[in-house]
Amino acid sequence: MNASKTITVNRKQSHVETCLKRNVCFDTKTTGFERYEFTHNAAPEINHSDIDLATSFLGHRISYPFMISSMTGGYEQAENLNRILAQTAEKLGIPLGVGSMRQALENASFRESFSVVRQSAPSVPVLANIGAPEIAQGLTKKELDTLIDIVRADALIVHLNPAQELFQPEGNTRFKNFLTQLKKITETLKVPVIVKEVGCGISPETAKNLVEKGVTIIDIAGAGGISWQKVEEERYLQQFQHENRFSPSALEELLNWGIPTARSLTGVAALKSNNTHYRHIQIIASGGISNGVDIAKAIALGADLCASAGQMLKALHEQRLEETILTWMNDLKAVMFLTGTKDIRQLQQTSISLKQG
Ligand SMILES: Cc1cc2nc3c(=O)[nH]c(=O)nc-3n(C[C@H](O)[C@H](O)[C@H](O)COP(=O)(O)O)c2cc1C
Repeated sequence: MNASKTITVNRKQSHVETCLKRNVCFDTKTTGFERYEFTHNAAPEINHSDIDLATSFLGHRISYPFMISSMTGGYEQAENLNRILAQTAEKLGIPLGVGSMRQALENASFRESFSVVRQSAPSVPVLANIGAPEIAQGLTKKELDTLIDIVRADALIVHLNPAQELFQPEGNTRFKNFLTQLKKITETLKVPVIVKEVGCGISPETAKNLVEKGVTIIDIAGAGGISWQKVEEERYLQQFQHENRFSPSALEELLNWGIPTARSLTGVAALKSNNTHYRHIQIIASGGISNGVDIAKAIALGADLCASAGQMLKALHEQRLEETILTWMNDLKAVMFLTGTKDIRQLQQTSISLKQG
């Protein structure tokens, strides 16, 4: 294996370890969901047991408005993590994304760590994943088709992570031409293209640019959960302990850079509801989702479904992944009962407001 391939493998492994062992969450920013509340409905006119959490995504009926976000793949132990994530997604009837598949192009021996996902989750939507810099630098249709085929993907996720690449010791900050290349792939690929951030959020202006290039599903992945600047800063400090890249006073702001999840979501949702040109887009809300009340709020604020990575990784590590997802769904059901909403469509129309005072 050559040096750059070794770096990629080590990086994916160290991301998992850093997220599990270090405090890499935003520390001066929250998701913003805590600022919202529902109006209590004292006469809900529904039975708790009749509440239906099912919804549809990419032409599939899914059991819950929730998916496991893209995380890992491309090194030996990733196969095991991906197998458990996929078995859980299959059992619960929810979609899941795999981590960046760049390594699968660099080294065919790591394809198994991705293909295990489709083997373990044959009937739910599975999403392939690649980074914006790879798209900007012109991955061919053939290469992208290879990635899609490895997991028999229902869609390709392209992740936008300029802040992460900026902080990453070996980061690739060449994003020029991304939007031009994005248009080419939305026009030619056999599956839809989903664009997501990784924790800095998507503004309405960026969403407009993405939709103009043919994107129909956006995962806003806002700030409030894992800060990928912090993850990469940890890795940078391990390698170059005494080298300051940024002024100390600027560093804190940059480590906490990003649009809080609730603000990013409401911005993109307003674009969708105020302009017929954007009405067809589907919005996934993620970035710091930490229970089913967050999920209920996100859906009432305009999301079609929610997603989580960091909390799922932690739950998997503590062997309570399925239990955690089911508990979150029970939280969601509690909110739906107390607001008198019997399904996800009704929850999307339920009023939610900023807390007073
Ligand atoms: C260990 C780990 C690895 C990740 N790797 C990827 C990746 O390869 N591709 C990607 O699009 N997002 C990746 N992410 C980002 C997540 O999909 C998600 O967008 C981000 O962590 C924000 O969500 P959260 O606050 O629920 O963690 C990764 C997240 C974790 C925890």
